[in-house]
Amino acid sequence: MPKQRWTSRLGVILAVAGSAVGLGNFLRFPGIAADNGGGAFMIPYFVSFFLLGLPLMWIEWTIGRFGGGFGHSTAPGVFHTMWQKNRFVKYFGVIGIFGPVVIFSYYTYIESWLLGYSVFALTGKYAGCGDSGAMAEFLRGYQGLTHNEHFSGLGTAYLFFMMTFAINVIVVGFGISRGIERFCKWALPLLLVIAAVLVVRVLTLGAPDPALPENNVANGLGFLWNPDWQALREPHVWLAAAGQIFFTLSVGFGVILTYASYLRRNDDVALSGLTAAATNEMTEVVLGGSLVIPAAFAFVGAAGIETIARQGIFDIGFITMPLVLGKMAYGQVFGFLWFFLLFVAGVTSSISLAQPAIAFLEDEFNLSRREAALLFAVITFLLCQPVIFFYGNGVLGEMDFWGTTVCLVVFATVEVILFAWVFGIDRAWTELHAGSDIRIPSIYRFIIKYITPLMLLTILASWIWTDWRRHLFLEDIPPGDKPIILLTRVGLAGLFIFLLLMVRIVWRRRSAAAAQEIDP
Ligand code: TRP
Repeated sequence: MPKQRWTSRLGVILAVAGSAVGLGNFLRFPGIAADNGGGAFMIPYFVSFFLLGLPLMWIEWTIGRFGGGFGHSTAPGVFHTMWQKNRFVKYFGVIGIFGPVVIFSYYTYIESWLLGYSVFALTGKYAGCGDSGAMAEFLRGYQGLTHNEHFSGLGTAYLFFMMTFAINVIVVGFGISRGIERFCKWALPLLLVIAAVLVVRVLTLGAPDPALPENNVANGLGFLWNPDWQALREPHVWLAAAGQIFFTLSVGFGVILTYASYLRRNDDVALSGLTAAATNEMTEVVLGGSLVIPAAFAFVGAAGIETIARQGIFDIGFITMPLVLGKMAYGQVFGFLWFFLLFVAGVTSSISLAQPAIAFLEDEFNLSRREAALLFAVITFLLCQPVIFFYGNGVLGEMDFWGTTVCLVVFATVEVILFAWVFGIDRAWTELHAGSDIRIPSIYRFIIKYITPLMLLTILASWIWTDWRRHLFLEDIPPGDKPIILLTRVGLAGLFIFLLLMVRIVWRRRSAAAAQEIDP
C-alpha cells in the first residue's frame, strides 16, 4: 500500500499545532501559572521550553520523518530502525501507542462535555444558575454524579459523547490528507479567530462593577503576571513548568512522531517544528493568558479568584467562565464561543491521539485505513466506558496519571537518548538539517546531547520521589474507590501487555518472512 502523505507544508504545521493547542492552552496554563508564582513562573516555563520542549519537538519531527522513510509510522518501528541491533528498544516504542490510546479514551469524554455546554450556552440551559454553587450542581448532574432538576442521569452526557466520538473517528477514518489535514486547515484558524474575539471582549471589560473599581481586567492581568520571585527557589515550581511544557506541546507522547512520518524525505523539519511550537506558545501565553484569569478577576476580584484557583482547572472552565460570560451583554453567544473554542481545540488534539494506534494497525498488520479506524473505534469505545460510568470514582484521573505523566517522561527520555547517543549526535544533526530551511544554532547540539537528557533524568527521578510514590500506593484515594482504581490499573497493564505481544508477533512474522526469502 503506498504511504499516505501530507499535501502541503502549511497543512502539516497546522495539524501539529492543532495537536498542541488544546485545553492545556486555555485552562491548564493559566491555572498553573497563577498557582506557581505568576510572572516569575514564566522563567522556568521558558527555560523548559528552550531546553526540553523545543529540542523534543525537533527530535520527534526528525525521527518520525526518518522512520517514515522505512515505512514505519509508530514508535516501535521507528525505534527499531534507529537501533537495529537492539532487540528490546522496539518494546519501549509501545509506550508511543499505549499512551495516546489511554489519553484519547478520556480526552474525548471531556471534549464531549464542551460540545454539550456549547449547546447549553446557546439554548440557555444553565442560564438559571446564578452562582458557582448552582453551576457546580449543574455540572455534577451532567456528569451523572447526582440527580437534579437539570439532569436525571447520564443520558445527555452519553449522547454528546457518542457525537464527539463519531466526529473523531470520521475525521481519522478519512486519513491523513483528506481527514486530518483538511480538518485542521479550517479548525486551527477558526479557533484562533474565536480566541481572539474572546480576548478582545475580555480586555475591554474594564471594571464591570462600578462599586468595586479595583475588580478590573488590568488587576486581573496583574494577578496572573506579577512575579513572585520566591517561587523560583521551589523545585516543584520548576517541575510544574516542565510538565506544562510537555503537556501543551504534545511532545514526548509519540503523536508528533507519527504525524512527521507522513513527510517526504526532503521536507523541512527544523523550521516547521519551530513554527508549530511557536504557534502553540503564542496561543498559550498571549491568548490563553488573557482569558480566564482576567475575566474571572474582573467579576469576582482577588478574594474570589483565590478560591477558584484552588478548586482547580475544570472548575474555572465549566463553572466560573460560563457565569462570568453570562453576566456580559450577549452572554449566551460568548458562552457558546468559549465552549466551542475549547471543543474545536480538543478535536484537533484528540484526532492526533488516535493516529498512532491506527497507523500501527495499518503499517504492521496491513489493515486498510477503514478497517484500522474501525478496529480502533471498537477498542477505544470500550475503554471509554469505565471513564464515563466510573467518573466519580477517579478512573479518569488514574488514566491521566499513566497517560500524561508516567508514559511521557519515560518515552521522552528514550527518544532523546536514542537520538543523541545511539543514533549519534553527528548523524542526528545531519538528519535534522536534511532539506531544512534554517540552520539551528549549534548550541543546540550541546543542549540535545547533554542538557535535555540530564533534565529528563532529573525530572524522572524527582517525580518518582515526590508525586509517584503517593500515587502508586493509592495514598490519596478514598478507601471505597480503591478496588476500582486497582481494576483500572490491571486493565491498563493488560492493554500494555497486549500491545507488547502484538509487537512481538509482528516482528517474528517479519523475520520468518525474511528468512524464507533468503532460503526458499
Ligand atoms: N497538548 C494538548 C493540550 O494542550 C493536550 C495533550 C497532551 C495532547 N498530550 C497530548 C494532545 C498528546 C495530543 C497528543 O491540551
